[in-house]
Amino acid sequence: MSDPGNVDAPGLLPDDHPGPTPHTVDELRRALGRFATGVTLVTCRDAAGAPVGLTANSFNALSLTPPLVLWSLRSASLSAQSFAAASHFAVNVLSEGQVNLSRRFATPQRTKFDEGEWRDGLGGAPVLAGCVAVFECRLRSHQAEGDHVLFIGEILRLQESGLAPLVYQGGQYRGVGDPL
Ligand SMILES: Cc1cc2nc3c(=O)[nH]c(=O)nc-3n(C[C@H](O)[C@H](O)[C@H](O)COP(=O)(O)O)c2cc1C
Repeated sequence: MSDPGNVDAPGLLPDDHPGPTPHTVDELRRALGRFATGVTLVTCRDAAGAPVGLTANSFNALSLTPPLVLWSLRSASLSAQSFAAASHFAVNVLSEGQVNLSRRFATPQRTKFDEGEWRDGLGGAPVLAGCVAVFECRLRSHQAEGDHVLFIGEILRLQESGLAPLVYQGGQYRGVGDPL
């Protein structure tokens, strides 16, 4: 049986701990949004071979050796089944000039790939032109956590450019400022 009094040791919160909820979802979203991120389009092919993709800023580095990255996708997303079934995904890190592409891929629609220049990457995952970097990954694992699915991929191929990155902070798109 878990010991509700023993909460000091890391990772030992009992499973049935009610968990403090001192915030609303909107407060949580706003506070998390203070964290500045880059912006990516994560892509794959669905079982029928159609290109699939969405705007995601949950992307992050996980490991250098082996080279692993992670990102998370809302479980209710139309794309969730496709990414879980795909052997590969590509993370296209957007540049300053790709705001419209980011907006387009953040809106549910069937015509996301009608604009923009892209080619097939590993496993058919679309690789976009004009990005800051692209990481082509083999899907290593995925697991449901809360209302999202966490995807972990192994980088098989990468490319980078000297373009300025697109930044997202406080619910707004921004550029990178001067070095401090
Ligand atoms: C800057 C930005 C970052 C986003 N990051 C994520 C993310 O990491 N995970 C996610 O599930 N949705 C994210 N979204 C929302 C999705 O892009 C949006 O819900 C999209 O329509 C989902 O694809 P779908 O239409 O295939 O469901 C983000 C939106 C924006 C504008």
